[in-house]
Amino acid sequence: MTSDKPLLRVLAGQARFPPPVWLMRQAGRYLPEYREVRARVPGFLDLCYTPELAVEVTLQPLRRFPLDAAILFSDILVVPHALGARVRFVEGEGPRLDPIRERAGIEGLSADRLHEHLAPVYETLRRLRGALPDRVALIGFAGAPWTLAAYMVEGGGSRDFQEARLLARRDPALFARLIALLEAAVGDYLAAQVEAGAEVLQLFDSWAGVLPEPELVRWCLLPAARIVARLRERCPGVPVILFPRGAGPLYVDFARETGAAALSLDTQIPVRWARENLDGPVLQGNLDPVALLAGAAEAEAERIARAFEGRPHVFNLGHGVPQGTDPEAVGRMLASLKSLRPSAMSQSST
Ligand code: CP3
Repeated sequence: MTSDKPLLRVLAGQARFPPPVWLMRQAGRYLPEYREVRARVPGFLDLCYTPELAVEVTLQPLRRFPLDAAILFSDILVVPHALGARVRFVEGEGPRLDPIRERAGIEGLSADRLHEHLAPVYETLRRLRGALPDRVALIGFAGAPWTLAAYMVEGGGSRDFQEARLLARRDPALFARLIALLEAAVGDYLAAQVEAGAEVLQLFDSWAGVLPEPELVRWCLLPAARIVARLRERCPGVPVILFPRGAGPLYVDFARETGAAALSLDTQIPVRWARENLDGPVLQGNLDPVALLAGAAEAEAERIARAFEGRPHVFNLGHGVPQGTDPEAVGRMLASLKSLRPSAMSQSST
């Protein structure tokens, strides 16, 4: 695959300085133009399922900022929704689902209408592919099985997802059925996103960090490795970025055992530790979103970019752009990052 897009070059293993950049949750409520579009539809999911509006909000951050990628505007919870779970978004509170904690609830889910339900998302990607500037890559995404199961069992967000962890321990065979169903659906969904135009895929396991080691391996690492293997067959050459947020030292196992092209580092991972211990995949991350919220992230951004200088690195945050962030602060951080020049010491920068 030959491409001039900086993000694709780096994900294929080329070091560039300054690094290509995109931001998790780069579209969203911190942008006034997003809030304007959001106000035109009754519910958040209507935005995700209306290609015209989803394309518009995907492009909004690109009009303001020098970003190297667009990330599809959607949400991880469209997959549980497509499988038959009831999902709604309550203003100011986040997602609410009817909790699924018993066999009947899990057996009632079905992937029969997955692609039919998600057709508007594929349409959004097709339109985006035609609308993006030449240098900008298009990223598709999905929630990882564990994080999706955690929301489905809990019935919404949670600090520690105790109900989901409890079900996984009380009835591991039943929980494994839920994970297997999600794993197949997520794999099919991501492959269909590539057919519709996605050039890179990111798998969000935002709640990996609430699990202890053996369970993190069983419910996060092994499903991710199987999804990556499946995608390698179905869409060879399309890089997959894994984001096992909170995995700590187990990032080493994700680097060695999943076959992912890249790992997205959360805020807690020390950059020097990552450099020394995670060889193989390209590394992405990991600016503290609160630095952006505070409005002065330039020095911190440079520290991270310099730490990975000479290695393939994708600049990003350690988690999403927080609500309440001043868009001007994002612009300042990105301009400062783009103005960095390779240091005299580095040999392999471009
Ligand atoms: O710009 C982008 O990154 C693309 C869009 C995107 C959204 N959600 C839009 C969104 C992406 C990639 C996501 C992923 C997502 N959704 C994750 C994984 C990443 C992470 O943050 O850990 C998770 C856990 C969710 C589930 C979810 N969706 C929550 C917990 C919430 C409520 C929290 C909040 O910020 O309100 C959402 C809603 C949501 N998803 C919004 C947006 C812009 C805000 C809803 C609104 O505008 O009314």
